[in-house]
Amino acid sequence: MAIQFDYTRAFIKGAFERKHLTALGGALKTVQKDLQRERKAGQLGFADLPGDRAMLREVQSLAKSYRGRFDHVVVLGIGGSALGFIALKDALLHPLHNQIAAPEGCTEFYVLDNIDPEPIAALLNWIDPRRTLVNVVTKSGSTAETVGQFLIFYELFARKLGSRRKANEHFVITTDPENGPLRKLVQKEGFASLPVPRNVGGRFSVLSPVGLFPAALAGIRVDRLLDGAGQALEAGLDGSPVASPSLVGAALHYLHYEQGRRIAVMMPYSNALFRTADWFRQLWAESLGKADGLGGERVNVGPTPLAALGATDQHSQVQLYVEGPDDKIFTFLRVDKPRHDLRYPKSAWDDAAFTYFRGHTMFELLDAEAEATCFALAEVGRPCVTISLPRIDEESLGRLFMHLQLQTAAAGLLFGVNAFDQPGVEAGKRYAFGLMGRPGYEKEAAKVGRRTSRPFVLPG
Ligand code: PA5
Repeated sequence: MAIQFDYTRAFIKGAFERKHLTALGGALKTVQKDLQRERKAGQLGFADLPGDRAMLREVQSLAKSYRGRFDHVVVLGIGGSALGFIALKDALLHPLHNQIAAPEGCTEFYVLDNIDPEPIAALLNWIDPRRTLVNVVTKSGSTAETVGQFLIFYELFARKLGSRRKANEHFVITTDPENGPLRKLVQKEGFASLPVPRNVGGRFSVLSPVGLFPAALAGIRVDRLLDGAGQALEAGLDGSPVASPSLVGAALHYLHYEQGRRIAVMMPYSNALFRTADWFRQLWAESLGKADGLGGERVNVGPTPLAALGATDQHSQVQLYVEGPDDKIFTFLRVDKPRHDLRYPKSAWDDAAFTYFRGHTMFELLDAEAEATCFALAEVGRPCVTISLPRIDEESLGRLFMHLQLQTAAAGLLFGVNAFDQPGVEAGKRYAFGLMGRPGYEKEAAKVGRRTSRPFVLPG
């Protein structure tokens, strides 16, 4: 079943009307043509993934060869190499998956997307290397956070398992198909590995082996994810641009940005979808926040994405959203049918504060709150888009991921920036290499190491 995109409340009477969108129609047609052209030229790598059956088979057969052999799977990766699988696992696995894994004979999953040594040390003490598979995910093969984690895990595994040869069997490396230090290591050591297609960047890689391999290990129907994605691709790229949810979504965000609404809040009314909003936060920020435009001119553009959780954040953020500055556009993620629901019992007390629950379910309250909050925002002229998933399953998730990636690629063209590079992240990576003494980065070390002439540091 299809996802529904409700843009009715994205318009604000007198301030932002359908005519604004219509006026952009020509530009939207150009964006669509550009995307189609880029796709044909192989420059829209993420759009090739749903049709890449060879990649699917490779992922599925490798996952099958490991299934049932391990109690723990640990994914090492950061940014686009981690957020996609985190979103998938939170959406599609049981909310207490790791707690119930052992008694049910399943595998526990951990994603280490940071280098805070405390949780990592705790995990290293928890897992048994003999029963653990480690999936190292880094497209470049040189990201300091991931490579450093890999070194620590590998040393421990080699020591505990008695040899490097034995340790090697516990690692699967997902990296560039040809280049980078980890690809070299795969060739040298014979690690099992999967390729990240050359034309697929980290934050667009959820439907590549980056997200699909650990998902397949977890029993997620990855073929259905790709089926859903393929459907969103058709809806997004073919047909009239004003009937494409992805193009319209991009246009609305762009036009509201131009009117000063520079913050994009994604608010799922579902715990399972919260990390999808977090995945989108990275996709939107890293793709659209750019210093330079496509022609090399200085633009410094980019909407600021935020993730909020309904109903929880109604009691934290919504006061600001309704009465604070008119600088936001909201995307509500809703679900038509929950996988589980709870019926409120008949109250033991005859008080209207309790009795009105009778006959209702917890999901009805959640859904009513989503509707009420969206209405309250729209009532004061705050634009809201609502995306409704028929249910949370692989197909819907695949559709949603593809829609949001297409929307991002289209928004890149509207903002006039390259949505697929990240020079700002690369600069930080280089300075960190310099500070850690990596050969070849001496200049960066010297630059960042020089203290400002008059430091302003206060003891607390
Ligand atoms: O989206 C991106 O390109 C980044 O967030 C990368 O995924 C992140 O920096 C990690 O890079 P790599 O996969 O090369 O380790």
